[in-house]
Amino acid sequence: MSSFDFDELPERRGTGSIKWERYPDYTPFWVADMDFVSPPCVVEALQNRVAQGVFGYAHPHDGLIESVLGYLERMHGAEVAKVDLIHLPGMVPALSIACRAFCEPGDAVMINSPVYYPFFDVASDAGAEVIDVPHIRDEVTWRFNWDAMEAAITPRTRVLILCNPQNPLGRAYTEHEIVQLAEFCAKHNLVLVSDEIHCDLILDPQQQHFSTLRLPEEFRQQLVTLQAPSKTYNIAGLGYSFAVIENPETRRKFIKAQGRTLPEINLLAMVAAEAAYRDGEPWRQELITYLRGNRDVLAEFIQNEIPELTIHEHAATYLYWIDCSRLDICVKPSRFFAEQAGIFLSDGTPFGGPQHVRFNFGCPRDHMLKGLHAMRDAVKRNSNHA
Ligand SMILES: Cc1ncc(COP(=O)(O)O)c(C=O)c1O
Repeated sequence: MSSFDFDELPERRGTGSIKWERYPDYTPFWVADMDFVSPPCVVEALQNRVAQGVFGYAHPHDGLIESVLGYLERMHGAEVAKVDLIHLPGMVPALSIACRAFCEPGDAVMINSPVYYPFFDVASDAGAEVIDVPHIRDEVTWRFNWDAMEAAITPRTRVLILCNPQNPLGRAYTEHEIVQLAEFCAKHNLVLVSDEIHCDLILDPQQQHFSTLRLPEEFRQQLVTLQAPSKTYNIAGLGYSFAVIENPETRRKFIKAQGRTLPEINLLAMVAAEAAYRDGEPWRQELITYLRGNRDVLAEFIQNEIPELTIHEHAATYLYWIDCSRLDICVKPSRFFAEQAGIFLSDGTPFGGPQHVRFNFGCPRDHMLKGLHAMRDAVKRNSNHA
């Protein structure tokens, strides 16, 4: 028996929503926020704070700090000291600061595409070269290409940015893989910057997020772990994330790189984060069940109804990575689906995966199915004409 309603599509047109208003002619299944109302505990906390009516400068208050530290202990088994916690106005700013902190212009940052495309930008904004070592794909899933990573490393490579769980691949790396990655970073003296924004969106009960916070101490000295409540609780528009950095020298460099001109953290973002991490778990549990159902329906639909598309095992996030290379089309697949199906999907090219699209299934199931039906009909019409 579910207590929260994930079947109702909220009206988002006319609310300043990027997802719904940037390409108004198409039904959107692209940018990574969900078409669900946030948990009641978050909405109530915001309403109460708004009712107070004073919105002056705010700092991370005790309730937020307690809530985050409690969450880290409960969910990741990590006893984090207050001093190791750095509050930030969002995840991309955090990634950008990390690149500036540990790279001089001309240094290099290693990433593994396909990957959330701002990873390319945060490195180049810091004046760093991007060393992209693409994942390799087998029948089941995508994996790091260890040999290619060894071969690509240069003496000036300073940082490796990890995305775990992986956007857009939907993978949750195993403990073994994360330890192997930490060993690789230690061997080459790299700072491991771990973007774990999707860590509370593991869809299968038998899988677990292995946070870098759980790495043995020897691997936590050059480690920046980044998390945020924004994807899980659908509060991305508020802007809040945090870093955990245990080593004082690593932390000092990160804090220095923040400079003095970064925006203050939005006070409502901190109120929402506190409530989400403290009281949001029952809602999250139901969200996961709902998203798992969506994921399974989507995978089955594609396998049975659109066999021209190829998908892989998907363990985490509400974003499904779809290989369209077997479609007989002469435009980018996202364009094909926009023009022929009236739906807007994220195009794979900026992620480093041309011939792919990313489908956001964080929405009511009926709505998702309408999108999938439109995709199937467009593919059918196309093959009839081919
Ligand atoms: C892996 C990853 N990191 C960061 C972000 C963006 O975070 P923020 O909006 O806090 O900058 C996203 C959004 O989709 C993401 O998928």
